[in-house]
Amino acid sequence: MRQLCYHVVMKIVCIVGSLREKSFNRAVFNTLVEAVPSGVSLSEAPIRDLPLYNADTEDKDMPESVKIFKNSIEEADGVIIITPEYNRSVPGVLKNAIDWASRPDGGNSWAKKPVTLMGATNGSLGTAPAQMHLKGVFTYLGSKQMGQPEFYLGRVKQVLSEDGTIIAEASVRERVQKFLQAFITHIQK
Ligand code: FNR
Repeated sequence: MRQLCYHVVMKIVCIVGSLREKSFNRAVFNTLVEAVPSGVSLSEAPIRDLPLYNADTEDKDMPESVKIFKNSIEEADGVIIITPEYNRSVPGVLKNAIDWASRPDGGNSWAKKPVTLMGATNGSLGTAPAQMHLKGVFTYLGSKQMGQPEFYLGRVKQVLSEDGTIIAEASVRERVQKFLQAFITHIQK
């Protein structure tokens, strides 16, 4: 009997920086999932269950949820952060997750990791100020960031499906697909 074998050669992990059920940024993630080419797997590393960072528990007492999160970053060939902007910066839940994965000292899961940023808001600046802050964080952490293209999505409500779960506007879906392809190329370099 012949068997079809789909060989995954690249593993991309996404972090959604919002816990909101109807998150616009989750809609971007859902759109990415639909754009994934064969040979690539794309999954989420959830941050919902991570405790607040506490240096007292970063070594032998590291919480299980943190170990799982760090492991999923370390096993990934590349990480896409999809985030809202809070007060012109990074949501606390996302920064908490990034900080956990950077610890303990000597165990930085972000070192040399290909990373890129996406963000959606109904505001006009498309999360550019928040992404600027994240670029500084990932430079410090020694990640291999993709400089171009960038992905900023403002006025996001206008391009979503009626139920808000996915991007419906064809031109924006195309931007998402091209962005993903560029990141795959970035990982391969
Ligand atoms: C916001 N929002 C917001 N939007 C923006 O474009 N720039 C900003 O600086 C802020 N600041 C901000 C602060 C706080 C505390 C909240 C709760 C919200 C609006 C934000 O973009 C909006 O809530 C998005 O819907 C959040 O993304 P998700 O949850 O839809 O993915």
